[in-house]
Amino acid sequence: MDGVDYDRNNMVIKKICCMGAGYVGGPTCSVIALKCPEVTVTVVDLSQARIDAWNSSDFKLPIYEPSLEKVVRECRGRNLFFSTDVDSAIQEADLIFISVNTPTKTFGLGKGRAADLKYIEAAARRIADVATSDKIVVEKSTVPVKAAQSIQRILTANTKPGCRYEVLSNPEFLAEGSAIKDLLEPDRVLIGGDTSHSGLKAIDELASIYVNWVPKDRIIKTNTWSSELSKLAANAFLAQRISSINSISAVCEATGADVSEVAHAIGMDSRLGPKFLQASLGFGGSCFQKDVLNLVYLCEACNIPEVAQYWQQVIDMNDYQRRRFANKIIACLFNTVTDKKIAILGFAFKKDTGDTRESSSIYLSKFLMDEGAKLSIYDPQVAPAQILCELTNPSISADPERVEKLVTIHSDPYEALKGTHAFVVCTEWDEFKDYDYLRIYKDMLKPAFAFDGRRLLDSSLLENLGFHVEVVGRKSWKNGILPVTP
Ligand code: NAI
Repeated sequence: MDGVDYDRNNMVIKKICCMGAGYVGGPTCSVIALKCPEVTVTVVDLSQARIDAWNSSDFKLPIYEPSLEKVVRECRGRNLFFSTDVDSAIQEADLIFISVNTPTKTFGLGKGRAADLKYIEAAARRIADVATSDKIVVEKSTVPVKAAQSIQRILTANTKPGCRYEVLSNPEFLAEGSAIKDLLEPDRVLIGGDTSHSGLKAIDELASIYVNWVPKDRIIKTNTWSSELSKLAANAFLAQRISSINSISAVCEATGADVSEVAHAIGMDSRLGPKFLQASLGFGGSCFQKDVLNLVYLCEACNIPEVAQYWQQVIDMNDYQRRRFANKIIACLFNTVTDKKIAILGFAFKKDTGDTRESSSIYLSKFLMDEGAKLSIYDPQVAPAQILCELTNPSISADPERVEKLVTIHSDPYEALKGTHAFVVCTEWDEFKDYDYLRIYKDMLKPAFAFDGRRLLDSSLLENLGFHVEVVGRKSWKNGILPVTP
């Protein structure tokens, strides 16, 4: 699309409203407020508890992200505000980001695959109900292709006299755990809109916000559908790479190759590059699975089942990897974990976040609980109530009382590890590397097993201490045991 004039003097955006104060809305708008001090940014949410946490005097923010607190401390009360007064923020704004959740549908048509757009639709209807002046409405949430069209239709069908809306797609590519860095130095900012004069002008307006800190050549402009699809495709490609290396990890375990050596050799190829080649017990997080399933559903709806099946394999491989790792633990522990105490190190889906959505730890815990294992769980950032909430979800366990009997949550890792038969590294928290493993070994039952689902620990060091170590993507060679994984 054509270049734009970024002269801020010609731009009208003075006030921004963001609907949704979650993992995307909160950090994104904090960085916009930081980099655009002349723009007033109000982040609104329906959840009073979430907004109270954003406004808390001791800065106990509702999400954990490195450097987020620093940015909020600098901007909050200056040009960054958090509020539950959704209507006033909509009315006053020139531009509105919709950053609400788009989870996978749990019932009805498209159950288990399609994105549930009810929050997006409710947000659009709220805008149409209360707005009294022209707005640029920006879809920041990840949505299926053509969602912008639905938003436009809802807005147009309910427009008050004198109100005009331009709907843009501006998907967010931040990764949890490095959100502030990603927002400050994005690989690219993608803005999709229509090619009418007013559509192009709206794209320019949004670009004029980003150009305050993002180099112009990193601001990509496309048509709306390309922008929407690019977000789904980007997450599908990232998830696919993890499933690809995890599939190779299974071959390594069967043959004696080492997945780190293979990943290194693959990653040296400049066409492939070294990133996202870390084998693990499977990917988690709120986005990868949801967005790949969303793509699968889109392909089915477009009557291209071959493509749908292709992408479905990415999810199937992830499920297989989690199951395979759990089976390996059970096989190593003499084919039974009933009543055995196993420590789970890490419950967040990755390091440097407190987010547990779709974490592989949940599924690993489920598989072990199904076999009657007693779990001692420790995570440096996740609150005990959040861990229990995940494990007592009906999709994980039908019997919450049993979960409470089997699970103990610890705030001290050494206490979590005391008296266990085995520990499992589920999240790659840096602190796990620095523990006193001699002390841990002495406190564990023998033989003491270490299962490293992240290839995080120094296995030779652990083996020299006496541990039986099992690592994703490496054949069991120590002690001559090769676990049988069905
Ligand atoms: P989240 O669940 O943390 O936050 C969404 C917030 O929207 C909730 O606090 C909810 O109360 C609020 N909300 C719902 N309806 C509302 C309404 N009508 N008015 C005001 N607030 C409302 O979700 P998260 O993680 O921030 O994700 C948001 C979107 O961004 C999703 O589509 C997600 O796929 C996408 N995304 C998420 C990324 C991540 O790393 N979490 C990265 C890139 C995109």
